Amino acid sequence: CIRSLSSSAALNAAIKHVTVIGGGLMGAGIAQVAASTGHSVVLVDTSEDILKKSAKGIEASLKRVAKKKFAEKPEDGEAFVQKVLKNISTSTDAVSVVQGTDLVVEAIVENLKVKQDLFGALDKAAPERTIFTSNTSSLPIADIASSTARLDRFGGLHFFNPVPMMKLVEVIKAPGTSQQTFDALLEFSKALGKHPVSCKDTPGFIVNRLLVPYMLEAVRLHERGHGSKEDIDVAMKLGAGYPMGPFELLDYVGLDTSKFIIDGWHEKDPDNPLFAPSPLLNKLVAEGKLGKKTGEGFYKHK
Ligand code: NAI
Repeated sequence: CIRSLSSSAALNAAIKHVTVIGGGLMGAGIAQVAASTGHSVVLVDTSEDILKKSAKGIEASLKRVAKKKFAEKPEDGEAFVQKVLKNISTSTDAVSVVQGTDLVVEAIVENLKVKQDLFGALDKAAPERTIFTSNTSSLPIADIASSTARLDRFGGLHFFNPVPMMKLVEVIKAPGTSQQTFDALLEFSKALGKHPVSCKDTPGFIVNRLLVPYMLEAVRLHERGHGSKEDIDVAMKLGAGYPMGPFELLDYVGLDTSKFIIDGWHEKDPDNPLFAPSPLLNKLVAEGKLGKKTGEGFYKHK
């Protein structure tokens, strides 16, 4: 209907300028996708060196996209890369760049105090209209938002790794998030070419709440001697149609990240057997075997 089309277009038009804070794995991906879909993006991190690395990573990723997308016409691919890169600038000063922004997407270190300090400072500098979001995987959005006076304009945007490839965004409505903010975040996710799903501000939202206990159950099944890693992975790929088995996925996600999430939930809900710690997972993390990123986790990687 015309009314909903025009109102969604108006909301869509509202979010044009995006500040992404944290130029690591997730932030760089979010900045790339926002810039590729015509948003003007400022990417913020703590040092010029880190930002240079992020920019290089984004350029390399865009070139891979262009190579596929413009296989027939490489010169159009190069023009595409340059056009997208033009939409991205970088800064080490979040407080000053946030003054002209419609939306902040925070993807810094997973630490409540650090996130609260950041948003507390941004809240004083950002215009009234600016919506704040966090990409946190394990912290309550409401706890992060409590450092600001804009609970109605604070929500969660939870992306998946690798951001340019993964279609899903979990849009989180905290108790204080207004319907208008929530609708704007759904529209923004669609404008990024993603598929948003609506989530409440509960541990793990939807995907991790199901996925992390599943992966831990696979480790426990193996610890009990009821199946080899290889057989469990093959079983879930061929029997359940999953693209990766649970041990492959743990290595991909990072064993430290998975342990961090499960430990946090266990602390809050110690009687829930789904959140029980796993001795084998803890042992591998203690040995520095964190998965793909360190060359070894449950499996050895080249
Ligand atoms: P990362 O370690 O790759 O990147 C974090 C970046 O933030 C680093 O470049 C760091 O220098 C920067 N940073 C730290 N403190 C800062 C500050 N005060 N101001 C500006 N920049 C700062 O981490 P990653 O994996 O990108 O995760 C970021 C967030 O996204 C975390 O909250 C994490 O829970 C969440 N997340 C991670 C996913 C993953 O698969 N890695 C998936 C979905 C969410």
